[in-house]
Amino acid sequence: MAKTHTRFVCQECGRAAASYMGKCPQCGSFNSMMEEVVHEEPFAKGAGNLRGLSGRSQPHPISEVGGDVEDRVHLPIGEFARVLGGGIVLGSIVLIGGDPGIGKSTLMLQMAMEMANTQRVLYVSGEESERQIKMRALRLLAAHDKKELPKNLLLVTETNLEVILNHVRDSKPDLLIVDSIQTIYLSNMDSSAGSVSQVRECASQLRELAKSSGISVFMIGHVTKDGAIAGPRVLEHIVDTVLYLEGDRFQAYRLLRSVKNRFGATAEVGVFEMREGGLVEVTNPSEAFLAERLINAAGSAIAVTMEGTRPILVEIQGLTSPTQFGNARRTPNGVDFNRLLLISAVLTRRVGLKLAEHDVFVNVVGGIQIDEPAADLAIAAAIASSWKDMPVRAEAVLIGEIGLAGELRMPGQMAARLREAQKLGFKTAIVPKAIRKGEDYPRGIEIIEVRSLDQALDAALKRDGDVTRGKKSA
Ligand code: TYD
Ligand code: MG
Repeated sequence: MAKTHTRFVCQECGRAAASYMGKCPQCGSFNSMMEEVVHEEPFAKGAGNLRGLSGRSQPHPISEVGGDVEDRVHLPIGEFARVLGGGIVLGSIVLIGGDPGIGKSTLMLQMAMEMANTQRVLYVSGEESERQIKMRALRLLAAHDKKELPKNLLLVTETNLEVILNHVRDSKPDLLIVDSIQTIYLSNMDSSAGSVSQVRECASQLRELAKSSGISVFMIGHVTKDGAIAGPRVLEHIVDTVLYLEGDRFQAYRLLRSVKNRFGATAEVGVFEMREGGLVEVTNPSEAFLAERLINAAGSAIAVTMEGTRPILVEIQGLTSPTQFGNARRTPNGVDFNRLLLISAVLTRRVGLKLAEHDVFVNVVGGIQIDEPAADLAIAAAIASSWKDMPVRAEAVLIGEIGLAGELRMPGQMAARLREAQKLGFKTAIVPKAIRKGEDYPRGIEIIEVRSLDQALDAALKRDGDVTRGKKSA
């Protein structure tokens, strides 16, 4: 007879314990331990067959292991392929996370419809009915001026993983999409769908399926309110690639970001725009992000941020306004709060801007989130520009990290950033003075090298009729 016992599993991090604990000793969250029943037997005996394992493995010399290059399938959505490292790797398992309503299901359906031209695709949904998915597919189709739904795209609404695996066995797809991992369950486990144990076990079985059959598996994962994928760490270890679809729900742009990728560069970003007809690729994001810029308005500066291997130009807006209620506020949108505190403090102490009695707002246009310190200088310039009510030179970009002493530091990949700025018609770049010139700066863009924030602002802020004040140092 199957031996059963219970254990307590933290729903945040997956830590198991024999008895209840109010606070998880691993991740420190409170009240996250839930009781789950464990059946020993099915996993001890039948598990090998269940997971398609042969139980036999054989070590080989590395030189004789097959597969010199990964087998990739071409993915016609360029921005998506870029994030994956160039197409879908056969037998890989990919997790796509993101806030509710951000467009995960839309993206997966678009991919499924594209891939179904050349491959067999099985789309399993635990959230929407087949009719609902078809309605969405028809809308996507109409927007792309196509007439027919692909025959090779199979839909099923199902949440039981054993049944799903049977469907896979019967229909033999090349690509399996599971929307979402939190809705599917294994009937031989007693915990409810979406609990850490279910999510972990279901994901492991899908991985075994991918590895043993060569089917590529994409699964959607929900994000908890703190921004982590529910059952987070456990899932990230199981899959090959973790992608996040992010963006401001009230803005059109969506960023698909890879945070882990066994088959390509991490931190790679694909940019999409959510339209009537689904997600549309934005192949030149810098241009899109700068499209609505007001030239010569105070409180706006252009930063060049590296998103993966690609430089992207973004407009940063700053606004300072006298504090109404005593406590000056710092309100960032798209940049880190602590970074804004630091930049405001450096502007106050090293440049002499009296920000103590001013609220400071910073906004990154387009709804993207910038984590890179290379944007510091542009943030500082936007704030200073608003405070002094002097516009930043319209044809200049600002690149550099700010130190506590008001000194500027050189970020990486300067040449790539400058090339992108030049490509978009910017004439001047204000950058930290390099001690050693490691990279070849492009010609045709004037480089103003500065040592401190003070000098940078001097060069960037324009007084009427005085555009050439920036001292060009060698
Ligand atoms: P969805 O893919 O259902 O989000 P998720 O699976 O991440 O929860 O996307 C839902 C949003 O996308 C919804 O608010 C409507 C919008 N949308 C469009 O704007 N255009 C479209 O063509 C589609 C299909 C969705
Ligand atoms: Mg969805």
